[in-house]
Amino acid sequence: MLTEDLDWVSEAEQGIYPFPWSRTNFADSLSAGYSSWVVQRDGEAVAYAVLMLVMDEAHLLNISVKAALQRRGLGSLLLDHLCIVALGFGATQMYLEVRSSNEAGLRLYDKWGFSRIGRRKDYYPAAQGREDAIVMRRAL
Ligand SMILES: CC(C)(COP(=O)(O)OP(=O)(O)OC[C@H]1O[C@@H](n2cnc3c(N)ncnc32)[C@H](O)[C@@H]1OP(=O)(O)O)[C@@H](O)C(=O)NCCC(=O)NCCS
Repeated sequence: MLTEDLDWVSEAEQGIYPFPWSRTNFADSLSAGYSSWVVQRDGEAVAYAVLMLVMDEAHLLNISVKAALQRRGLGSLLLDHLCIVALGFGATQMYLEVRSSNEAGLRLYDKWGFSRIGRRKDYYPAAQGREDAIVMRRAL
């Protein structure tokens, strides 16, 4: 992900999440040097991800596929790539948080061998009140 991707990434993000990251969140991720990626298919940007690599840990901060193109293997492709990047960096574990109501996310991570290791109560804003995060981890 480069600075010139920020417009489409933040626009796509608004169409994917009810509580999206802002353009500034993505810009800050680039400034912080987080490992940030976009997937292009036939020249069209279709998915993106942000990974924080610290010591021997990888933290998946964002993984998103454009709404119209979900459930076609792009999320899996991207997650596979991120695991390879993390391994190359020397990470031994990947961690992430996912909304407890996010069935697609939970199933994706289950399928990829992530284990549910904890719950952060009221972690996310929700349409009504707050929502818990499920913390997941996978050995790389
Ligand atoms: C979660 C997300 C990244 C998955 O990417 P994707 O390209 O749609 O997923 P894939 O096609 O690679 O699917 C892989 C597996 O994930 C699970 N999955 C994906 N979408 C699903 C859905 N709508 N319902 C149930 N399971 C789903 C399935 O187990 C699927 O395997 P299968 O098709 O063999 O059953 C994508 O749906 C997305 O961007 N969602 C909105 C943003 C989001 O929630 N990101 C994760 C935040 S933690």
